[in-house]
Amino acid sequence: MNIYFDENTSVFHLSNSKISYQISIEEQKYLAHRYFGKNLKQHTFKGDYPVVYRSFGPNPIDAQQAGFSLNNQLLEYSGNDNGDFRESSFQINFSDGSYVSQFRYKGFEILEGKPELKGLPQSFTNSDNEAKTLKITLEDTRNKVQIILIYTIFSDYGIIVRSTVFKNLNHESVFLDKALSMSMDFPHSNFDLIQLSGSWAREREMIRHKINRGVTKVDSKRGTTSHNYQPFVALADPNTTEHKGEVFGVHLVYTGEFVSNIEVDEYNQTRIQMGINPAHFNWEVLSGEEFQTPETVMVYSPDGLNGMSQEYHRFYQNQLIRSKYTKEERPVLINNWEATYFDFKEEKLHALIDEAAVSGVELFVLDDGWFGKRDDDRTSLGDWKVYEEKLPSGLKALSDYVHEKGMKFGLWFEPEMISEDSDLYRSHPDWVLGAKNRQSSVSRNQFVLDFSRPEVRENILEQMRKVLDEVPIDYIKWDFNRNMSEIGSRNSSVRDGEILHRYILGLYDMLETLVTEYPDILWESCSGGGGRYDPGMLYYMPQTWTSDNTDAASRLDIQYGTSLVMPISSMGAHVSATPNHQVGRSISMEMRGHAAMAGNLGYELDLTELSADEKEQVKTQIEWYKKHRKLIQYGEFTRLISPFDKNHKAAWMFTNESKSQAVLFFYQTMARANDSFDQIRLVGLDSDKQYKLSHTGEVYYGDELMYRGVYINHDLHGDYQSKVIEINEVK
Ligand code: DGJ
Repeated sequence: MNIYFDENTSVFHLSNSKISYQISIEEQKYLAHRYFGKNLKQHTFKGDYPVVYRSFGPNPIDAQQAGFSLNNQLLEYSGNDNGDFRESSFQINFSDGSYVSQFRYKGFEILEGKPELKGLPQSFTNSDNEAKTLKITLEDTRNKVQIILIYTIFSDYGIIVRSTVFKNLNHESVFLDKALSMSMDFPHSNFDLIQLSGSWAREREMIRHKINRGVTKVDSKRGTTSHNYQPFVALADPNTTEHKGEVFGVHLVYTGEFVSNIEVDEYNQTRIQMGINPAHFNWEVLSGEEFQTPETVMVYSPDGLNGMSQEYHRFYQNQLIRSKYTKEERPVLINNWEATYFDFKEEKLHALIDEAAVSGVELFVLDDGWFGKRDDDRTSLGDWKVYEEKLPSGLKALSDYVHEKGMKFGLWFEPEMISEDSDLYRSHPDWVLGAKNRQSSVSRNQFVLDFSRPEVRENILEQMRKVLDEVPIDYIKWDFNRNMSEIGSRNSSVRDGEILHRYILGLYDMLETLVTEYPDILWESCSGGGGRYDPGMLYYMPQTWTSDNTDAASRLDIQYGTSLVMPISSMGAHVSATPNHQVGRSISMEMRGHAAMAGNLGYELDLTELSADEKEQVKTQIEWYKKHRKLIQYGEFTRLISPFDKNHKAAWMFTNESKSQAVLFFYQTMARANDSFDQIRLVGLDSDKQYKLSHTGEVYYGDELMYRGVYINHDLHGDYQSKVIEINEVK
């Protein structure tokens, strides 16, 4: 890994054994993007992007250089005001009312390691020799503002991490209307755009289509990252498959609103951008101060979508998730939500706990409804005191009961919300997020608390500390059950355009405090399922509740899409009741188990109501999972058959590092008469090793399994069938 600067050609080259990223300084002023892709040996390849005259292109240098127009260049980060007519990376409103800026190259710095971003989630190094960082400064000398582009390359990943700083050297404030984290141009538009979008209970469907002229926008204006869009886009060669071909991914480490623009211009150049959504953003940078954007994780993979995902999984696992549980086997849990909803008392919970303990469950999670006077979703958010009518012996007694049964105890909170019917609202109605003299809309009968205000956060923090200091708690599920509306400030000293980002910074500040004060707690993030499943939350919480949809067939889509960027160890997956509560579908316990066992296994149903046979199945599933979870949670994950291909099948596999063990999951959602036999070619085994297949006892060499494949669906009859095959090396 290294970063070079060649003074003769004015080219920066960031490289490691996998990738190269090149930037050049053009006309001593402008930063051009030269290359991002497979590692190049030549350190200072300038590239030969033609400079030719094109009509209607403004010439920022002079008439003699009429061929040089920023609109014809591939750029790194660009404003609108010097003749680049594409989507801008930033927009600054200066104190004299002007919007025109002229940023020019000023200098650079190369640092060992990766500098810290203040107050934001971020990838990290364990020692300085894991990464190098390039900082390039651009300056608008008239307005006295600098833009600093920060690029970090890590030694062992096909990844560049980028963010941007705005520094105000003026004696007056400047206002940022737009401040994206990254922008990058490609010379062609021969790409498919891949993104993950959906809705509540249908998160992260994989959408893929060819890009074309104009701007395609993937964004959230819901205050949070949302169920609807993931802060992720990828550009792939149209021939790229799961296993082969080039793909470029960009993922934002942030939990608020985001935008990604993909623009194809008149010359078929493609611009890709990512950052905070300008929709609810306008930031005052005071004289002498800075604004730091969140960071983006940019992956290049020549090895198809699986190659990209594996880079993201490894990187997040090793360089983003901070928790003592990052590499520990995650406990099998039971959550009482779908078993009881709000309708529980101590006796009911005890019965569930007793049954869970004999089944081999390791963690009991008490979900919504344990606090205030909460019998439904209309009340008590903000009053984090035990509901004594439901739990007369108190939370501590319940936690002790769980611990006596040999399990851990987990608890649900929704700290950022407030019900109108709550003591907190009665004493602080003004703590609700909303604009001055405007009514705030309710959603799920609740308001959002204004977490941009320190006194609001402090109150909730104190209430949570009280619970956590009195009750032995091993796990917390942190929920967030609505989108934000009327995003503004009731507090006259803060401008509306700063509220949302300040809210997110406030949230991060509170999470930082909690994970530092309670390092032994395993945190799971949730937002009506996977509405806030983003790398920002992952930095604080190593697990996420993937979706409120627990139907095993729907889960194939959801988990498949999620795995594009998120590591399996972060993905909560539960077996629930049949017929399923969200879609009404009935699926066997076997397949419900097989779907959930491909993530962090949990149960979310009334175990006491199962038949003796089903209880036995649950025990067997848990036993099997405990033996294989290290491989599943931390092995290399490979997608084999996509449920989005509409062939009513899905398959994926997990392989350990030494390639001595693998496990294959196959699912058939709809049977077809006289169907073809699917030849599944396994991936990532060792050609020279021999492996035994658990379903037949047969032994094959790795190359036979990888290139000839295995046939496994001929004996599956009926809809919603599944199979798990263990593949173990024999010596
Ligand atoms: C939404 C979550 O996703 C569910 O699992 C559950 O915790 C409910 N909220 C409780 O209100």
